[in-house]
Amino acid sequence: MGFNFFLALICILNFQPFLKAKNLETYIVHVDVQPDDVESWYNSFLATNDVTVPRILYRYRHVFSGFAAKLSPEHLKSMQQRNGFISARPERTPESHPATRPSATKGSHHRSVENKTNTASNFDMISGTSMPCPHLSGVAALLKSAHPDWSPAAIKSAIVTTADQVNLGGKPIEDGTNSLPANIFATGSGHVNPSRANDPGLVYDTQPDEYIPYLCGLNYTSQQVGIIVQRSVNCSTSIPEAQLNYPSFSIVLGSSPQTYTRTVTNVGEPNKSYNVEIVSPASVNVTVNPAKLNFSKLGQKLVYNETFTRSAATGGNILSQRFIRWNSAKDYVRSPIAVVFV
Ligand SMILES: *[C@@H]1O[C@H](CO)[C@@H](O)[C@H](O)[C@H]1NC(C)=O
Ligand SMILES: *[C@@H]1O[C@H](CO)[C@@H](O)[C@H](O)[C@H]1NC(C)=O
Ligand SMILES: *[C@@H]1O[C@H](CO)[C@@H](O)[C@H](O)[C@H]1NC(C)=O
Ligand SMILES: *[C@@H]1O[C@H](CO)[C@@H](O)[C@H](O)[C@H]1NC(C)=O
Ligand SMILES: *[C@@H]1O[C@H](CO)[C@@H](O)[C@H](O)[C@H]1NC(C)=O
Ligand SMILES: *[C@@H]1O[C@H](CO)[C@@H](O)[C@H](O)[C@H]1NC(C)=O
Ligand SMILES: *[C@@H]1O[C@H](CO)[C@@H](O)[C@H](O)[C@H]1NC(C)=O
Repeated sequence: MGFNFFLALICILNFQPFLKAKNLETYIVHVDVQPDDVESWYNSFLATNDVTVPRILYRYRHVFSGFAAKLSPEHLKSMQQRNGFISARPERTPESHPATRPSATKGSHHRSVENKTNTASNFDMISGTSMPCPHLSGVAALLKSAHPDWSPAAIKSAIVTTADQVNLGGKPIEDGTNSLPANIFATGSGHVNPSRANDPGLVYDTQPDEYIPYLCGLNYTSQQVGIIVQRSVNCSTSIPEAQLNYPSFSIVLGSSPQTYTRTVTNVGEPNKSYNVEIVSPASVNVTVNPAKLNFSKLGQKLVYNETFTRSAATGGNILSQRFIRWNSAKDYVRSPIAVVFV
């Protein structure tokens, strides 16, 4: 909170003068200048007494050297005459298509963001953990624009509980390294389905303060948690890791049963019932109480308990994975379960 406020204040201070200036447009500028020299290069084409000019909005240094800045037509002209100038193009927000998904098999139907068809290829496939980040950020932005009142946790829940379990060929999602079906630590909850995430029925919502007893339960000290949240914290209240109101279950199971509580919020239709479907992980008995959730209005929250009990010898397996699903006549809300035996 304090940190956000501080950031907001910095922005207000920096941007106040140029908000008054006219005819400014944001440009993405590509230059042939060492990244560390970008700022002095930028200053070189401005009149020295130009107090209405903002600082650079963003500096690019990894993929190319350049910056984003608000520029007037006069700035643009004077900049284009400097040594080192390569290109400047107005910032553009590509049209979004929430109903379609990026698909490697349908490349010919998709254009690159630049909308060029005369390049060698207008799509590319890149894998790795850095690639889900821009895709999921885009999905999160779409969900936030469709549901401005959803919290970050609600958006995450919608994405997690609606993900697909098979790949675009209808087969189990494979592990990239050996072409065998991937386990839960590789797939997470599955392949993101933005259209379904837009209408998830129920969400597992979490308020920022609920992370405090959670962090305390991970054995951080009051002082350490206080540094994260920027205020004094008393860790005499803590919860077990799996008790955070999260849309999945990650359980470390010994011989004693464990029970966790979840709260689901109705974001679908006012009058709707859900029945639980339990697909217990091998060697684990999962029970859910109550087994039916009857909602009568939007925004209504209902609570259920889920109990995990070791039911059989694990046969040497250390990991077991399955899911529970809340099914209505129209949709379902799926929570993956990973159990590690100790
Ligand atoms: C992309 O190119 C197509 C065909 O050239 C054109 O019809 C369309 O308007 C362009 N879209 C954008 C967003 O520029
Ligand atoms: C926290 O510490 C307690 C007591 O030492 C221990 O039983 C528990 O497993 C620890 N929790 C985690 C998440 O490390
Ligand atoms: C934290 O809360 C507990 C229980 O309310 C109390 O006994 C303890 O003194 C508190 N610790 C601090 C540092 O305030
Ligand atoms: C809610 O749904 C149930 C079962 O479909 C129905 O019996 C009941 O009349 C509905 N209530 C309202 C207020 O629509
Ligand atoms: C699972 O636990 C419930 C409640 O304790 C019990 O009624 C049921 O028989 C158990 N199922 C299995 C397969 O062990
Ligand atoms: C939900 O409604 C059904 C009837 O449709 C009823 O049998 C059941 O007890 C209700 N469950 C809860 C938890 O209220
Ligand atoms: C869930 O478990 C808690 C703690 O064991 C208990 O107080 C609560 O009544 C239970 N709720 C349901 C719906 O079973």
